[in-house]
Amino acid sequence: MNDTFLKACRGEKVPYTPVWIMRQAGRYLDQYQSVRKKVDFLTLCKTPELAAEVTIQPIDILNVDAAILFSDILIPCEAMGMHLEFHESKGPVFTPAIRDGNAVKKLAVPDPEDKMRFVMDTIRLLRKELAGRVPLIGFSGAPFTTATYMIEGGTSKNFLNTKRMIYENPALYRSLMDKVTATVTDYLKAQVSAGAQAVQIFDTWGGIFSPEDFKAHALSYVITIIAELKRWMKAENKGHVPVIYFVGETAGLLKEISTSGADVYGVDWRINIDDAIKGLGSDVVVQGNLDPLSLFLPKDSIEARVRDILNRASSSRGHIFNLGHGVVPQTPPENVIALVEMVHRLSARH
Ligand code: CP3
Repeated sequence: MNDTFLKACRGEKVPYTPVWIMRQAGRYLDQYQSVRKKVDFLTLCKTPELAAEVTIQPIDILNVDAAILFSDILIPCEAMGMHLEFHESKGPVFTPAIRDGNAVKKLAVPDPEDKMRFVMDTIRLLRKELAGRVPLIGFSGAPFTTATYMIEGGTSKNFLNTKRMIYENPALYRSLMDKVTATVTDYLKAQVSAGAQAVQIFDTWGGIFSPEDFKAHALSYVITIIAELKRWMKAENKGHVPVIYFVGETAGLLKEISTSGADVYGVDWRINIDDAIKGLGSDVVVQGNLDPLSLFLPKDSIEARVRDILNRASSSRGHIFNLGHGVVPQTPPENVIALVEMVHRLSARH
């Protein structure tokens, strides 16, 4: 079994720096497109055989050191009772959005093995099909990032409705967040029980806050989730399943993020990773942080950036190479393949 990724998560010695890519299964791959041609995105997420197939595609094509479950952070919102659609142009759309106490009251905290059984079935199938080739990462959105979609009704630029709810009606926001937090906690436990060997919590939009607001309205819920996951893993003998916390626009929030209780911190590209390590406290394991759009550079320039990140990250307890956010659909796949090869070659310890 290639356990380089799990070892790096635990800060153990590894023969080379493991690498995986956020959104590694996706539209930049022809092989994904040919599966996706046959079914819409939500059907793909809900069909374990197909979800497992596209999860494994990047393992075969890219030679990455971890698989990430093919799903979406908005799946639990549908299980809570919201109506979710993915539109080709607009992305995810919730109708109606959550704007008042009545809407929050109607939301359920679902039993994941009942309402999201297809996710757990995908995980169980993947563990069989991967047969130890690489570890499987499960994931969820962080409560705040998930709630922005529920409140805005989709993707947003300035998060006006979310911030207005937080500032004008904090009790309403809190009641929504309590339900989302409970849902995410149960959902991640179910993923671990089904066989996820690490979990990543995506707080993509955390960077829209001042540090104080981030702490109060986003991080506090993540701290609750991670503490409960750790308590549960110990009580239920689930072993040490690493928790990765990824926050977008990490730079101004490092001190706060470092209190989350996570095993690994995902860092975006707007900060040099050595500065992020300093801000988090040097005894940390970090993941990141190449600008996804630098995959449009000529290969020798990509290689120079990989070398630079590997050097800068050497001051940490452990490093997992990744992009600073998801790979974009227009990316040439051969550059992603080359990136993985570069990380493996340049980081090899003899
Ligand atoms: O990383 C992986 O390969 C695993 C799968 C994965 C997807 N989404 C598949 C997906 C993961 C981990 C996500 C997380 C996710 N989803 C986040 C957090 C991380 C991030 O990228 O910011 C967010 C904010 C979402 C919500 C979401 N899903 C949006 C806004 C969109 C539309 C924009 C877009 O990229 O298309 C999606 C759709 C989506 N999720 C696709 C994929 C492969 C494209 C759907 C398609 O095939 O048409």
